[in-house]
Amino acid sequence: DIVKIFAPGSVSNVGCGFDILGFAIDGVGDEMIVKKNDQHKIIIESINGYEELPTDPKKNVAGVAIQALLDDLDSTQGFDVEIFKNIKPGSGIGSSAASAAGAVFAVNELMGKPYSRLKLVDFAMKGEAVASGDEHADNVAPATLGGFCLIRSYKPLDIISIKAPADLWCIVIHPQIEIKTKESRALLSSDIPLKKAIRQWGNVAGLMSGLYTSNYELIGRSLEDHIVESQRKILIPEFDELKLSVMEAGALGCSISGSGPSVFALANGIDKANVIAAVMNTVYKRTSIEYKIYVSKV
Ligand code: HSE
Repeated sequence: DIVKIFAPGSVSNVGCGFDILGFAIDGVGDEMIVKKNDQHKIIIESINGYEELPTDPKKNVAGVAIQALLDDLDSTQGFDVEIFKNIKPGSGIGSSAASAAGAVFAVNELMGKPYSRLKLVDFAMKGEAVASGDEHADNVAPATLGGFCLIRSYKPLDIISIKAPADLWCIVIHPQIEIKTKESRALLSSDIPLKKAIRQWGNVAGLMSGLYTSNYELIGRSLEDHIVESQRKILIPEFDELKLSVMEAGALGCSISGSGPSVFALANGIDKANVIAAVMNTVYKRTSIEYKIYVSKV
C-alpha cells in the first residue's frame, strides 16, 4: 500500500479575487510518496530538503493536514511521507498548499477514500494555515480539485469550479526569493474604502462573466486588483517594470501570484504566452536575481 502523487502548484487571488480565486498550473508542483507505517506516527521526510521546512509533523503543513484528517476519522494510523519539493517555499505559487493537498489526498486513498475531495480541501486548509497564519483555500482548492476554483464562502465552505476558456494561458515568473505568506498578509490594511470595494467587486463579477463567455478582452480589463497589489508590490523587485512590459506585449492582465514574489500574466493563446514569457525573461535578466518561468494552460 503505497501512493505516489503529483500535487500541482497554483496561482491564487488571480488579480481581483483575494482569498477567493485560484487555478492549478501544470508542470510544477510537489511529488510525494506516502505509505502506512505501524508506528502510529506521521514521519515526514523532505527529500531534496529545503532546510527551512520543518519535518516535525506538528509544524509541517503536510503533517498538520494529515493529522486533521486522522482526528476526524478518530484514527491513530501512522504514515511515512516523502516529499520531493519542486517549488521553493514562500513562492506565491502554492508550495505549502501543494504539500498539504497532496498529503491528505494520498492518505484518503490509503484509508479507503472515506472523504470527498471537498472535505479534503477542509483538511488541507488546516495545514495551509501553518504557513499563512489563517485558513484560506485559494491554493489548496485548485491543488485538490484541479482547474479554476472560486471559494464563494468559507463558512460553510462553498467551492465552485469555474470553466476557463480553451485558449487562456498563464505565464508565471518565480524570482527565487522567499516571501513568507504570514508577513505578506500582515502588511495588508484590514479596512477597504467603499469606493475601492465597488471597483473590486465589479472586476470579480466581470472576470467571472469573461471566463464563462470566453471574452478575453473582458477577462483582461477585469483582472485588476485595486486593494492588495499596491500594498504588496514593494516586496517584489521590478514589479512595475515587469507589469508594464508584459502589458505592452499584449498580456490580458498581470498581477502578483498569491502573496508573491511570483508574478503572473494571462494571455490569449500559446504564441502570445511565449512572447510574454520572453518579455519577463528580458526584464529579469537585467537583475542579479535567479528566477524560473512557467507557461501553463489555465
Ligand atoms: N490569498 C492568499 C494571500 C494566498 O494572498 O495571502 C497566499 O497563500
